[in-house]
Amino acid sequence: MAQIFTTDRRFSRAEGYLEHSLSPEAELVHPVELARPAELQALQLERLQKTLHHAYANVAFYKKQFDQAGIKPEDIKTLSDLARLPFTQKADLRDNYPFGMIATDMSEVVRIHASSGTTGKPTVVGYTKEDIDIWAESVARSMLASGVRPGDMVHVAYGYGLFTGGLGAHYGAEKLGCTVIPMSGGQTAKQVQLIMDFKPRAIMVTPSYMLAMADEFRKQGIDPKECPLEIGIFGAEPWSEAIRAELESTFNIHAVDIYGLSEVMGPGVANECVETKDGLHIWEDHYYPEIIDPVSGEVLPEGEKGELVFTSLTKQAMPIIRYRTRDLTRLLPGTARAVRRMEKITGRNDDMIILRGVNVFPTQIEEQLLAEDSLSAHYQLRLSRQGALDALTLRVESREAFNTEAGAAVAARLQGRVKEMVGVTIEVDVCPPDTLDRSMGKAVRLIDDRPKD
Ligand code: DLL
Repeated sequence: MAQIFTTDRRFSRAEGYLEHSLSPEAELVHPVELARPAELQALQLERLQKTLHHAYANVAFYKKQFDQAGIKPEDIKTLSDLARLPFTQKADLRDNYPFGMIATDMSEVVRIHASSGTTGKPTVVGYTKEDIDIWAESVARSMLASGVRPGDMVHVAYGYGLFTGGLGAHYGAEKLGCTVIPMSGGQTAKQVQLIMDFKPRAIMVTPSYMLAMADEFRKQGIDPKECPLEIGIFGAEPWSEAIRAELESTFNIHAVDIYGLSEVMGPGVANECVETKDGLHIWEDHYYPEIIDPVSGEVLPEGEKGELVFTSLTKQAMPIIRYRTRDLTRLLPGTARAVRRMEKITGRNDDMIILRGVNVFPTQIEEQLLAEDSLSAHYQLRLSRQGALDALTLRVESREAFNTEAGAAVAARLQGRVKEMVGVTIEVDVCPPDTLDRSMGKAVRLIDDRPKD
């Protein structure tokens, strides 16, 4: 098979990384994913130093940050020296709205994306032609890891536009040599029709929208298992192992996790390998990960859980240094590839609910509700204030119509299960099928109705 990725150097192969899983197409995998750690680290250091010089020389924000910390780019002599540099946060991008973080001449910027966020100005990111190529390569590598092959047809139902999901997936699929269906989000009935008529092998979409599509298949009288899809590449929001099981059994597909964020690039920063589905391999020749204690900011030893921080190693238009993602995970050694993995993300710092002193993430509740056969994966959590205390209410749809008594019995059982497994008391409201709004992109799982004090 033809080589897809142009490589600037040859790496020697690290030992023992599931050789069997790569054959007969091992030559398709980018050699850097299987490189010996020392060789990868040498490449990372070289790229990091280049990135730091580029950012310092061309972005006033970074010059000021480095100067205030009393550090020059040449002081960073090892990868662990990176920990001496200050962090970059979403607020820094907002403060430099719209183009203050751009490190090249605007004439070299061929694309802008932006993420809306809940409040204030959007965060704006820019890409040179070369950045777009590297991004497309990152997504192509992610798709390959997911089991997609050149020549496959891929249905893209991530939103196109300022969001990086649609166009990111699209360019990656083209780079891999696939036939792309640029469907974007929405028009759910049409999504189903095109999937049945065109017969794509893979779909790229948020897991919550895929669940909404399952309902639409059934509405059209089609068992979702009959759909021609074999692989789903799901990301842009946290999703639990219980949702993976739900998606795989509903559609008879492999459900694989893709991670990314616009500030660092877009989708394709890390991806699971279909043969192991054991966390996401990070394309760390382009995106350098650290895990920090979210409170102290200290770098944590490998394997400990904390906040994920990324430094871009090759980006031109908008280099990003020690960006705090707010996502919580841990770094693990490689399995199907030699590069490191990050554990499936359970949630963001921002989504963490502190209920009477107990930390809770929506994905923990999700795991418990899907243990009830009669409940669907359509749910929403609402935080409210009752007297002096916070209360958490779960609204979840049953799979079939039910009577009030049966609903109350399931609710009581789930309440007990959450108390036992998660350690908090929540109210549970089981509602009939088709009651809750469906997401066509990222699902809003938590609504905070508490008075703002
Ligand atoms: O969501 C990029 C993307 C598009 C990733 C399509 C995957 C697929 P943003 O809109 O900037 O970019 O949002 C980034 O979404 O910090 C995480 O909190 C969350 N996120 C993204 N992927 C995952 C995932 C895109 N696989 C933010 N698991 C990130 C959990 C995810 N959370």
